[in-house]
Amino acid sequence: MSGRLYVIGTGPGNPEQMTPEALAAVSNSTEFFGYGPYVDRLSLRPDQQRRISDNREELDRARAALDRAASEVNVCVVSGGDPGVFAMAAAVCEAIDNGPAEWRDIDLVILPGITAMLAVAARIGAPLGHDFCAISLSDNLKPWDVIERRLQLTAKAGLVIALYNPISKARPWQLGKAFDILREILPAQTPVIFGRAAGRPDERIAVTPLGTAEAADADMATCVIIGSAETRIISRDGKPDLVYTPRFTAGETK
Ligand SMILES: C[S@@+](CC[C@H](N)C(=O)[O-])C[C@H]1O[C@@H](n2cnc3c(N)ncnc32)[C@H](O)[C@@H]1O
Repeated sequence: MSGRLYVIGTGPGNPEQMTPEALAAVSNSTEFFGYGPYVDRLSLRPDQQRRISDNREELDRARAALDRAASEVNVCVVSGGDPGVFAMAAAVCEAIDNGPAEWRDIDLVILPGITAMLAVAARIGAPLGHDFCAISLSDNLKPWDVIERRLQLTAKAGLVIALYNPISKARPWQLGKAFDILREILPAQTPVIFGRAAGRPDERIAVTPLGTAEAADADMATCVIIGSAETRIISRDGKPDLVYTPRFTAGETK
């Protein structure tokens, strides 16, 4: 008999955006595996223990959590946002795929959360109102030329693009290069949304035309949403602009 292994997302950071289902999983767990700032978002009881590890140690963290669940402990693996979007749910599945047979018997419960692009989109209007995709700009787990090709193809296909992991100290040039690639395909006035720390006290949401978008306007806490040629801006007196992508599209993309 194994314990249960929950994989949950805290949402983007606003406690009200964590789901009741994830909160119930927290209440039902005794050990919490995750990156410190994400686990810190939870209000834990004295009998609940934190097992903190660095953000780059996802596979080791997944294995450690599976080991504990195999020892009859109810365990919670914690991600920010949604656990299935560039986060721990895939790491747990990778560990099970390549791990001991007994890990396949663990009672695994993956619970969805509000991912960053949805939190950012809701703050500005409806930029994801038509077809869109999400791309991580991190080239830690895939070659940069794959990312370039995906950016080109998705922009040519008319998809709005949500960029996760846009920039970091170790990856300072990739976002600028991504803007250069997209400027060759999309009109200069295409709206680019820089959604930083959505739902948190230090939230900052800004919109810039692609023609003048600067990588320096993003940091690790930013989700960058690049519109399609159809994405529009509505100006409103005394209120922030609305950015949206209509639900319909007129014609073929090249
Ligand atoms: C490793 S990914 C994890 C994504 C997370 N699982 C999710 O579903 O939102 C981290 C990236 O998510 C984005 N992100 C996370 N929280 C955010 C927030 N509150 N506002 C804007 N972007 C955020 C940033 O692009 C950041 O670099």
